[in-house]
Amino acid sequence: MLDIRDLTVRYHSMGRTTDAVNGISLRIDKGSFTGLVGESGSGKSTLMTALLGLLPPGTDVMGQILYKGADIIRMQESEMRDLRWKEISLVPQGAQNSFTPVMKIKRHIEEVLNVHSGKFGEDAEKEVVRLLKDVGLDAGIKERYPHELSGGQKQRAAIALALACYPALLLADEPTTALDVIIQAEILELLSGLRKSKNLSIILVTHDLPLAAMVCDRLVVMKDGIIAETGTPSELVNAPRHPHTKDLVREMFWQRDKKNG
Ligand SMILES: Nc1ncnc2c1ncn2[C@@H]1O[C@H](COP(=O)(O)OP(=O)(O)OP(=O)(O)O)[C@@H](O)[C@H]1O
Ligand SMILES: [Mg+2]
Repeated sequence: MLDIRDLTVRYHSMGRTTDAVNGISLRIDKGSFTGLVGESGSGKSTLMTALLGLLPPGTDVMGQILYKGADIIRMQESEMRDLRWKEISLVPQGAQNSFTPVMKIKRHIEEVLNVHSGKFGEDAEKEVVRLLKDVGLDAGIKERYPHELSGGQKQRAAIALALACYPALLLADEPTTALDVIIQAEILELLSGLRKSKNLSIILVTHDLPLAAMVCDRLVVMKDGIIAETGTPSELVNAPRHPHTKDLVREMFWQRDKKNG
């Protein structure tokens, strides 16, 4: 469904040029669950932002991003607006902290429904309840303010928001960071369940290789704006080829040994 060809993203800021993504080619199949793994600064969020056509003005983008055959890079803003939320939707990095403090949870979701689905009033309210249920939250959560939710509940609400317009591809940028391990596992379980129940394709962005290996059917390891290696979790964990993947796997076993004493 998504075919990224030789994509380069070049930022210009404060007189400096950064090739955050440097010639990436990647295909995402319908129904797949891909883990995009890499250390901080490797270009993961830049790639997600490029997929939504939301890079800052003045950023150079080269190559192609074909979504169902149409090139996202060359789309008009009006075409892009039809695609965002309804086809490709993002749970942004730090989503838990991006809710407006003075707005109830339902208002956040209703705003998306108003603007992007043309649903208002009772229709929108019904959708809010459905969406909260889909992500495992009680309907009562809709009347709460963001600060009245736990970190895990906020992350679920952020996922509900991203699902508001029935997207086909969900991009989840570090959805489990800053959550404890039990809640992390619950969020992963939720994503896995949604993939099946909603027939979603998912790209899970994380710096945590073992975490991605638990749920994804394919891993893509990024390093300094390039793809170091791709493979199934067992291929990468049992027989990493690239030095960076080897480092990540060594770290994974080291953490595991440490935990087991
Ligand atoms: N708006 C921007 N302007 C200039 N440079 C940027 C901008 N956004 C990101 N960068 C740079 O691009 C590179 C990739 O950043 P990016 O945020 O994509 O990494 P990441 O893999 O998501 O990292 P993290 O795991 O910390 O979220 C970094 O060197 C970063 O400093
Ligand atoms: Mg990031």
